[in-house]
Amino acid sequence: MSRFAEPQDPVFREMNTSLGFDRRMWPQDLRGSRAHARMLAARGIIGQDDLDAILRGFEQIEGELRGGTFPFEPDDEDIHMAVERRLTELVGDPGARLHTARSRNDQVATDFALWTGEAAERAIAAIEGLMRTILDVAGRHLDWPMPAYTHLQRAQPVYLAHHLLTYVWMLERDRARFRFTREQALRRMPLGAGALAGVNFDTDRAMTAAELGFEAPAPNSIDAVSNRDFALDYLSAAATCATHLSRLGQEIVQWASEEFGFLTLPDAWSSGSSLMPQKKNPDCAELLRAKAPRITGHLAALHGVIHALPLTYNKDLQEDKEHVFDAADTLEQALAAAAGMIGGATFRADRMAAAAADELLAATDLADELVKRGVPFRQCHGIVGGLVRLAVESGRTLSEIPDEELTAQSEHLGPWIRELLEPRAPLERKQSQGGTSSARLREQLALAQGLLA
Ligand code: ARG
Repeated sequence: MSRFAEPQDPVFREMNTSLGFDRRMWPQDLRGSRAHARMLAARGIIGQDDLDAILRGFEQIEGELRGGTFPFEPDDEDIHMAVERRLTELVGDPGARLHTARSRNDQVATDFALWTGEAAERAIAAIEGLMRTILDVAGRHLDWPMPAYTHLQRAQPVYLAHHLLTYVWMLERDRARFRFTREQALRRMPLGAGALAGVNFDTDRAMTAAELGFEAPAPNSIDAVSNRDFALDYLSAAATCATHLSRLGQEIVQWASEEFGFLTLPDAWSSGSSLMPQKKNPDCAELLRAKAPRITGHLAALHGVIHALPLTYNKDLQEDKEHVFDAADTLEQALAAAAGMIGGATFRADRMAAAAADELLAATDLADELVKRGVPFRQCHGIVGGLVRLAVESGRTLSEIPDEELTAQSEHLGPWIRELLEPRAPLERKQSQGGTSSARLREQLALAQGLLA
């Protein structure tokens, strides 16, 4: 018996079914349903014998889902209906009693929140794995000078470890965002809200919340089935994290080029060309760059789905899952790939040191030394700018300019400048907190290592 006299149009059926993607939520669906069944029995809403039969049925269903032998049927609209249909097939009436005091609206919101909480947990673990890899690489490259850039123009020298640790601090913020996401997903349990108004049974939502690991039952049944903020939180955290990884990807692409030559990627993380035999391409780093907008797109799409959506549940909300699932798959892969590439890269000290030895990178240091000698900063900037122009136009380095020409350039200049042009002088003079000098860098590394303690 049913409300419907006609079968669904095949096109609508195809459009309406979510089994193809929501089947991955089966572990959460079983968890939620077991908790719900135990609560129904504890409250005398179903019998103890019903519960026993349901749990027995779930035992078999779990084995089938795990082993890939679960008999899905063409009529299974989603994982929730497939599991319930199979349960009833296996145990009869007790299975048909499971959906008492529950709607798919609170069920799906609960399953999805549980899934998202676990995905946030996995993201945190993967982020920490990448942090650990970068910390390890940084620890092995503490005294390797390289130029840091603004506008992709050489700006000032820093140590490679200092540059790499930048990503650890980004990842630490990403981890905080995923911790928040997990907390939000597991904060207020939708289960027990029913379709939207609550249910006509004397349920114990605190009991299911405790079993499922939620902080508390959602206090408003309408909000419970309408809320997908935790999914937006996940996507937002994932988009920012992937955007960070895209910057790392771009730097790896640059550094692996012969023009930079700062690193060599391991073969395992490079591709060849179908035509040019000499090529070793940083495809993985390029993909890291290009995966980020895909995740950001999912975030924008879910904002679009929820935008102006009337309360409470609308089928639009079924379009929440694929965005989050694909974002999670993409992000977890990107985090693993970033760790593989950075952990396996060979940095080329000679190439980085040669680029960092460019004396023009000490221009700021010369200006600052003039300041210390009493010249107002703006004048110092001009004096050193003039000196740089003299060197560049005459095809000499700064240290090649003889004393007479220095003093002719400005009475404040003199042979003392050459001491500041020594390769490590600009690095070691950056003694400010957070700066690149060896002492400060070691201090920073210890702080960063503490993030994982
Ligand atoms: N597959 C649906 C979803 O993902 C389950 C909820 C269906 N609820 C409903 N009232 N049609 O949202």
